[in-house]
Amino acid sequence: MFYFGADYYPEHWPEERWDRDARLMAEAGFNVVRLAEFAWSKMEPREGQYDFQWLDRAISVLASHGIQVVLGTPSASPPPWLMAKSAELFLVREDGRRATFGNRREYCPNNPLYHDYTRRIVAQMAGHYADHPAVIGWQIDNELGGRCYCPICASSFQAWLQRRYGSLDELNERWGTVFWSHAYTDWDQIPLPLTTGGSPNPGLALDFHRFASDSYVAYQQMQIDILRQKCPGHFITHNFMGFRYDQINYFDLAQNLDFVAWDNYQRTEWGMRAEVDPGHAALAQDTMRGLKHQNFWVMEQQAGQSGWGTVSVAPRPGELRLWAYQAIAHGADAILFFRWRTARFGTEEYWHGLLDHDGNTSRRYQEIKRMGAEMREVSERICGATVKSSVAMVLSYESRFAFQIQQNNPQFSYPSHFYQIYRSLHQRQTLVDIVAPTDDLSPYRLVVAPALHVLPKVAADNLERFVRAGGLLVVTPRTGVKDEANSVVNRRLPGLLAELCGTEVEEYDSLPAEVSNQLKFTLPELASAPPASARVWCDVLRPTSATVVARYTQDYYAGKPAITRNQVGRGQVMYVGTMGDAPLYQTLARWLLHSVGVQPVVNAPEGIEVTERWRQNSQLLFLLNHTEQEQEIALNGRYVDLLDGSAPLEGTVLVAPWDVLVLMETRPH
Ligand code: GAL
Repeated sequence: MFYFGADYYPEHWPEERWDRDARLMAEAGFNVVRLAEFAWSKMEPREGQYDFQWLDRAISVLASHGIQVVLGTPSASPPPWLMAKSAELFLVREDGRRATFGNRREYCPNNPLYHDYTRRIVAQMAGHYADHPAVIGWQIDNELGGRCYCPICASSFQAWLQRRYGSLDELNERWGTVFWSHAYTDWDQIPLPLTTGGSPNPGLALDFHRFASDSYVAYQQMQIDILRQKCPGHFITHNFMGFRYDQINYFDLAQNLDFVAWDNYQRTEWGMRAEVDPGHAALAQDTMRGLKHQNFWVMEQQAGQSGWGTVSVAPRPGELRLWAYQAIAHGADAILFFRWRTARFGTEEYWHGLLDHDGNTSRRYQEIKRMGAEMREVSERICGATVKSSVAMVLSYESRFAFQIQQNNPQFSYPSHFYQIYRSLHQRQTLVDIVAPTDDLSPYRLVVAPALHVLPKVAADNLERFVRAGGLLVVTPRTGVKDEANSVVNRRLPGLLAELCGTEVEEYDSLPAEVSNQLKFTLPELASAPPASARVWCDVLRPTSATVVARYTQDYYAGKPAITRNQVGRGQVMYVGTMGDAPLYQTLARWLLHSVGVQPVVNAPEGIEVTERWRQNSQLLFLLNHTEQEQEIALNGRYVDLLDGSAPLEGTVLVAPWDVLVLMETRPH
């Protein structure tokens, strides 16, 4: 079943209003709300005094209008009576300062007392709602994250290290603690990488980032265990933060959930940025789909202007609906808008919902109501249909963590580098799966693994298996530099991949922002490519078995190889030894996709996004116009327009500004 609804806070409004809200929701085609994820102080106003009566009444009102409920466990916003118990409950930031009460997410994820109170409230909620006919599932906490550097975390970290390394000799060896006289003789001596400690040992810092990530995975698991036991009929999910969040290994966090849900805000800038690059949301959706290789929910979809202290640009008419369809086009099987009604109080007074502050419907509500009517017609065709791709990009949280510790070049950013490559594929209407370094790569023809900095042997073996089976692998600078302990490998770069790449990094240059080098493509097929420059990082390559694709033209390494290609059986590896501007990645994307025979879903003008979802052999085509102009698109087959149910379409179709077409092929493949 496709779920369509909103995030609702009945506790913010008088009870007399609830029925009108539920009626307006039902009129908009809503069949689900998420409730209670910040309502701990309403559900347990005093320690041990639980009150679910108000929530029961709210749920009955909603259920009487056919609306089902996802309940949030409220651990993201603990009540004052709990946090007054001990200063130790509060998270300590990297600078060593403790958070104080007044926001949310201020708790330490390893605090045993916090665990106790979490278990109690979750068990109470689970017991109360296990058999409620309107409750279908759970969201754990809200947007887990935030590294804690408190003394409790310090000793948990030491215990975590003990489990990981077994002995101090091993830890000292792997981290290289002989450097600056850091050899530890007792686990208690191992510090946290606080900013007061200066630049930490990279091994210690990476392990701490892993530990901090594991802490939230374990904290979530504690809640999952209670819910699984008490509510076996309900699903369990969590609201992730897309591609941008970088402090938890999201593959780990997703593992024991039934599906991934996430919070999708296209225009979150506090400033007045009017342009939205649809590629960012596309990457986030693809990442969320990739965490479990399955369809996902959008638990919070932008419903209006965002704003805490300042107010963002208003979504243009059509944009909210378009953004929601974009999520569906990438694999969403549920959309809940955040939030139902704009709050009159609290930090998020200006984060706009579908209704205005005064409770009246808005143009935004009308737009989503129209979508609700469409979803009633088409959602069953869409729900469960899957996205298939022959191109993948490898996302490594360990590498991402390692670059947070050592940026390598002040201009370098792992997520931006990743996005630049993703964007060049997305602009060519290519669907991309985002995968973990050890995921099965056999479904793909092309795999791009940007800056796979920390490269465990299992990941290197996985990539090699893919190439030997005939795949085309692309790697970029700073790959294979680090072992799992975040020490530099004792071999020529790209380390464990050097042989597979058929090239070695003879030396490298790290460029200041104002300096670039020019590339000359030497392969005949690329001779007419537009000029491309090299920036940020230049690996000077020495091919062992690879052929040269491009050379540097300037500086002391003018004439030396910058990009190479190695044939390995039926497979190939490209080593792109530099970073560049958009033209470089566009040239490479065109050539790579052509080499593996991946065609754009449909050829479409810039600003049009095209995706497909499949149910068996039946194709659903999504044409999304992200521009202010009407756009013309040439179709390859015969389709019916599912949203307006009109006569079969063939040849050229027009898509209005900020509009979307959902088409179904009339002749299945
Ligand atoms: C999300 C969060 C919501 C709300 C929203 C708007 O990230 O999950 O609770 O805060 O942002 O700020």
